[in-house]
Amino acid sequence: MRIFSGIQPTGRKHLGNYIGAIRQYVEGQDRGDPAIYCIVDLHATTVAYEPAELRRNLYDTTAILLAAGLDPGRCVLFRQSDVPEQTELTWLLSSVTAHGDLNRMHQFKDKSARQKDLVSAGLFFYPVLMAADVLAYRADEVPVGDDQRQHVELMREIARRFNERFGETLVVPDHKIPEVGARIMDLQDPSRKMSTSVPGDAGRVLVLDDEKATRKKLGSAVTDSGREVKRGEGKEGVANLIGIYAVATGKAEDEVEAEFEGAGYGDFKKALADAVVEYLKPVRERYPEIREDEAGLERILAEGAAKARALASETLADVREAMGVGVPRS
Ligand code: TYM
Repeated sequence: MRIFSGIQPTGRKHLGNYIGAIRQYVEGQDRGDPAIYCIVDLHATTVAYEPAELRRNLYDTTAILLAAGLDPGRCVLFRQSDVPEQTELTWLLSSVTAHGDLNRMHQFKDKSARQKDLVSAGLFFYPVLMAADVLAYRADEVPVGDDQRQHVELMREIARRFNERFGETLVVPDHKIPEVGARIMDLQDPSRKMSTSVPGDAGRVLVLDDEKATRKKLGSAVTDSGREVKRGEGKEGVANLIGIYAVATGKAEDEVEAEFEGAGYGDFKKALADAVVEYLKPVRERYPEIREDEAGLERILAEGAAKARALASETLADVREAMGVGVPRS
């Protein structure tokens, strides 16, 4: 079973990223053969950005992943731009990608609406690069949060269309979306997902927030005018917190509701803050030392890229041959 996932480079990874995706990456290391994780710096160039900041963010994210428990001995961890096969495949896949499908992508619609100056063609093409990331490794499984569902659907369609047109070459991947915590919502506005791009910091707990900030944000999370720690109509805020608490403590959501029966929101939020602080503590403690050693991070990424290229170049040779581009095989 090959596992592949990608994550954008930012130092502002939040609880949604951690619960929806990063914890799945860590778990996948022992099932993946191999488990491949890519920090997608090329995707980060599709919206306005600062080059120097991108480099710093790349190290921040690499260090967060290592601090969270990714072990370069048990997975392949690398930087997207180190594997040019992925960018080449993006172009090759464009011939079997429908323009109309790209036009339907929710993320493109959201992000393009938020751009002030330029909506880049790269932003429109983002899902094709994402498809190439996964298909270059013939991955079977793609661990992601719920917001990436449509992108994984599209890459499945691209793989199917390629195989139909050029012969069986690519693997059609499945997404792996967690049952609880697939969509962690904003703490201030539980109708929208927790996200880096929402202005203001109160709606998200960052993986690297200190204990005080974490407690403050969870303590002031929006709930409702009721009293019951239960999921249900009009209780999206509380339901979100129940999901977070369940993941942080390893309990089922039903158990959480039973545990807090008769308790008020105050008690629940206090317990929630304790649980989240405890949950993220190992990552926060390990992070500074790992982040400091940029040469060490570069070494890890270089080793990962060498392994990744070996795999991707096999797929690319088959794709080129199937499409009739480049030097013929024999
Ligand atoms: P990124 O960096 O925005 O998000 C990384 C992962 O975090 C998940 N996630 C969430 N999960 C639960 N609740 C939330 N509020 C929440 N917000 C984010 C995302 O679903 C994602 O799994 N396009 C991808 C990066 C990518 C990729 C790939 C992923 C590039 N190539 C190939 C899979 C396969 C992204 O924007 O990640």
